[in-house]
Amino acid sequence: MSILKKLATRLPPAPKAFLRAGHNSLRTLRNSFYATYRFLRNSSTVRSALDRDLLSAVIYKQFHAVEKGLALPQPRPGFGAEAINNLMGHITHYETSFGPDTTSANARAALKQYVAFNHGLGVDVHALEAFLAKAPNGTPEGEGGAIKLQRGDLFPVPQDTAIEFLRSRRTLRNFTGEAIPQAVLEDIYAVASRAPSVCNRQAGGVYFATGRAQIDHALSFQNGNRGFGEKIGALAIVTADQRAFTSPGELHQDYVDGGIFAMSLLLAAHAKQLGGCMLNWSVDAGRDRSLRLALGIPEYETIITMIGFGVPTEQFSIALSPRVPAEARLHWLD
Ligand SMILES: Cc1cc2nc3c(=O)[nH]c(=O)nc-3n(C[C@H](O)[C@H](O)[C@H](O)COP(=O)(O)O)c2cc1C
Repeated sequence: MSILKKLATRLPPAPKAFLRAGHNSLRTLRNSFYATYRFLRNSSTVRSALDRDLLSAVIYKQFHAVEKGLALPQPRPGFGAEAINNLMGHITHYETSFGPDTTSANARAALKQYVAFNHGLGVDVHALEAFLAKAPNGTPEGEGGAIKLQRGDLFPVPQDTAIEFLRSRRTLRNFTGEAIPQAVLEDIYAVASRAPSVCNRQAGGVYFATGRAQIDHALSFQNGNRGFGEKIGALAIVTADQRAFTSPGELHQDYVDGGIFAMSLLLAAHAKQLGGCMLNWSVDAGRDRSLRLALGIPEYETIITMIGFGVPTEQFSIALSPRVPAEARLHWLD
């Protein structure tokens, strides 16, 4: 314990509370400065020179606006003409600077559908057609646009089964210690990658540790795994890429999209009959930096949370974790 902390323990309650409030305020300010500084450095909010990843995020955002327009109940002929011009400029810049890839191909696929939709509706799409006809060599098959579905396609599982599945997820802290094969984690990732994200920019990412030494090393930075961490079979470190964000209002979007992605990983693991325990990453800037340094996680990725996964033991206890009364959290606006 530092000398200051020792002195503080001897203070009467009022000055002690005052000191604590001051100390915590400073820590909070430092943490928010750290988050804001990283956001300004990494997102395209103030950066004008866009590298590949930043430009890719902008293109995803822009062609998703086309997809959304096409998915409306009554798409408006010629919608978003100016935005589409802008998008063509970005795709050209991207292809010229970095070559064609899935980003440019997906954007082109969405634009192709836009052209098809506008055909015969009196909209001038000549410039767009000319642009699409000149896809650079090596452009892969793209996926983008909208598809028609039936209501039943959206709900393939009976309601009771789906609800039972969701309600049966409980935080598990009793694992056998068996390692989790990489193929299983890849399946979990593939399902979780379907998580919704702002303008489909998909900032959520994950670093998996599967070897005992690597899991234990990463867990040594985390304060909530005592008594069960050593039996975790695979550790996920969930991140969100700040380079996906483009405007000041998105300062905290990393935690929204990263949190949704983390929950999707947890549910996907549950579907694969693995137990899971989210492991908070509610840490000061200094601890955050230490973990990045130790694991090589770049500064542009916000660390959202860790998740321990593992095979459940045959029998175990779980915390009941009762919920607060609905009145405290469930509100009606009318
Ligand atoms: C972001 C987050 C961080 C968490 N961190 C920890 C942790 O560090 N250690 C732990 O044992 N449980 C942790 N939990 C698990 C919670 O205690 C648990 O989700 C909560 O009590 C509700 O119980 P349930 O998940 O079984 O419904 C965390 C949960 C979340 C969502």
